[in-house]
Amino acid sequence: MTSTYLIRGAKQLLTLRGAAGPRRGPALADLGIILDGAVLIEDGIIKEVGPSRRLTNLASAREATEIEAYGKVVLPGFVDSHTHLVCGPPRLKDYEMRIAGKTYAEIAANGGGILSTVRSVRSWTWRRLEAEARKVLRRMGEHGTTSVEAKSGYGLDETSEFKLLRAARHWDARPLDIYSTFLGAHAVPPEFEGRADDYISWLCTDMIPAVARRRLADYADVYCDQNAFTVEQSRRYLQAARLAGLKPRIHASQFANLGAVQLAVEQGAMSADHLEQIAEAEVRALAQSNVVATLLPGSVFHIGSSRYPPARQLIEAGAAVALATDFNPGTSPTYNMQMVLALACTQMRMTPAEAIAAATVNGAHALGIAGQVGSIEAGKQADLLLMDISDYREIPYHFGVNQVELTFKRGEILQKEKEPAWDINDL
Ligand code: NIG
Ligand code: FE
Repeated sequence: MTSTYLIRGAKQLLTLRGAAGPRRGPALADLGIILDGAVLIEDGIIKEVGPSRRLTNLASAREATEIEAYGKVVLPGFVDSHTHLVCGPPRLKDYEMRIAGKTYAEIAANGGGILSTVRSVRSWTWRRLEAEARKVLRRMGEHGTTSVEAKSGYGLDETSEFKLLRAARHWDARPLDIYSTFLGAHAVPPEFEGRADDYISWLCTDMIPAVARRRLADYADVYCDQNAFTVEQSRRYLQAARLAGLKPRIHASQFANLGAVQLAVEQGAMSADHLEQIAEAEVRALAQSNVVATLLPGSVFHIGSSRYPPARQLIEAGAAVALATDFNPGTSPTYNMQMVLALACTQMRMTPAEAIAAATVNGAHALGIAGQVGSIEAGKQADLLLMDISDYREIPYHFGVNQVELTFKRGEILQKEKEPAWDINDL
């Protein structure tokens, strides 16, 4: 049974309505605020948006369950457009090594890093991976995320990559929408040690077509960086992906600048993500393209770096900037987009308004789903949040805490579920 809701009396209703494309430059700060705003939701869809006085008088609102938002803020659900949702356990040894001063590359060379998660994922059952990811997803929802991109890339062989992609695709009654990405080119697996070119060839000829044929992913991603894949290897991978109908995305210039941004533009990628090492000329190239610049300040914070991507330059040059968690066990184990907004504001000098638009409507553009989600407009999915604050600037201001009172996903209130009674380690 579907419900009809009238959310009314919101002190600030952030609609994020606006032009069709991603928000760039000054438009990024335009939240389309309605004071004393209301939203009418029917059958999971937003029917009407406007001043409370008008919506309350509508005949269609008479039967609706009323949600009193007096003095509070209503905004679109966050679109987390870059996560490694299905992954193994936390990497606590890596964390302590990092605190002791080791770099990301040194930790990987000492038995940690991506390949240590690959070892765990290969040994975990599909059911255990799915159960763990479901827990993360529920927490993301409680923190205000309503759409999630989920990458594979911790299996790196056929069985394990399928296992990860199936775990992300499986749920019938999943609480949030998941959009899957094949990240076969995340690291060179032990079977191909020293033979990165051969691994890429195998991904191109075997894995990419198999993933596409089984409809296990919408996008393909490559980690183009030092200790990962070169521009030439990344190009081959993305060309094969496009040929198979998977839309390209790139982990670009996180630790070293190999020229991944140019490759993203050349390949018409949906997004270039990270960008800590981006050069000035590349900022301009991105700004003139349709590639969304997805910034992941949680990963910069967690690895203890102070080199954040140049958000201000990107915005001022006119690039389409999005924000995401990069949820993963190595560099960004957070579920909380509100914390990502706080980092974007204090560390990258984005304004609270810019950060909110980057985490909602521009995140939706990074995934190509802005026709359905990312703003509160009639006809879109009713994915929205009621926050117990009286000004949207409080979202990043109260860093590290959860301001979400209610999450609406497709017009239904996401119930705070209890943690399962069984122990995940028994699966
Ligand atoms: O986005 N750098 C590549 N991928 C991840 C980290 C993965 C890991 O350390 O497990 C990232 O930061
Ligand atoms: Fe990532």
